[in-house]
Amino acid sequence: MVSYKELGLVNTREMFAKAIEGGYAIPAFNFNNMEQLQAIIKAAAEEKSPVILQVSKGARNYANATLLRYMAQGAVAYAKELGWENPQICLHLDHGDSFELCKSCIDSGFSSVMIDGSHLPYEENVALTKKVVDYAHQYDVTVEGELGVLAGVEDEVSSDHHTYTDPEEVIDFATRTGCDSLAISIGTSHGAYKFTPEQCTRNAEGKLVPPPLAFDVLDGVMEKLPGFPIVLHGSSSVPQEYVDIINENGGKLPDAIGIPEEELRKAAKSAVCKINIDSDSRLAMTAAVRQIFATKPGEFDPRKYLGPARDEMEKLYKHKIVNVLGSNGKA
Ligand code: G3H
Ligand code: 13P
Ligand code: ZN
Repeated sequence: MVSYKELGLVNTREMFAKAIEGGYAIPAFNFNNMEQLQAIIKAAAEEKSPVILQVSKGARNYANATLLRYMAQGAVAYAKELGWENPQICLHLDHGDSFELCKSCIDSGFSSVMIDGSHLPYEENVALTKKVVDYAHQYDVTVEGELGVLAGVEDEVSSDHHTYTDPEEVIDFATRTGCDSLAISIGTSHGAYKFTPEQCTRNAEGKLVPPPLAFDVLDGVMEKLPGFPIVLHGSSSVPQEYVDIINENGGKLPDAIGIPEEELRKAAKSAVCKINIDSDSRLAMTAAVRQIFATKPGEFDPRKYLGPARDEMEKLYKHKIVNVLGSNGKA
């Protein structure tokens, strides 16, 4: 058993309390490799932003669970080396799908886990989430639960409230499970295709404009659970400039579309205190790499294309921290 406290990591409790109080949100950035981790830590250290390093089941399988944990441990030392005296870094399991996976992360040094029972029948979601909370809280590890189903890439995102979180369920869920934060569904979704063109309108320049998020559902949840930490998944904005660079350099991402940054800024000022971003970092990396491959076909030193990709991701993370979440200067 390795405690995250020995690794210099922190759980989300204090981060979230301060974020709600201060009207900003903590960035939760996924990482799978060294360049992403370097860019996240450099951005957070230079902007003095608390940060959540997210690791998915897929990331653990890709990079090796042991190696990833040591990378997170190294990230704390790296942050200090960059002059961040008291790094506020949380290591979080993203979309844990079983008690065993959550336990394995808790036992190996994670400071926070998500148990995603959102696709299960309500009572099964409650029971599974409670089981994880009961184990995690023995070690002061915080737990994120989820209520409501995010539309998948292929699914119909409609105004049908059945896909959104039901504010009537949140008190019962939070009380019975004891979870520390709650991911809700208000119209965001994972990936680079969050809306179909049919669900959007087009502005004067012909650009797709997505339908607004269901802020009424968020308001309903906040009314039922005042001051309770709320999480938004699927919060990439899919920057058009990256999509254009990718498409102009041999890629094919037709009609990719994300969540407008103004909507995330608005959410960050509310009880939404954790905003998950993964796809935008993938797009930044892919755009930078494609551009180098197209303009320098003789280049084969990975540092010459992964280095610029890392710089682009760092720029992106800083932009999110400063201009979207408002978490700069808070750690
Ligand atoms: O929500 C999912 C995250 O973007 C992680 O994705 O499972 O492909 O690592 P992944
Ligand atoms: P995006 O695909 O919008 O980046 O969402 C990431 C996420 O929710 C990770 O859990
Ligand atoms: Zn997610």
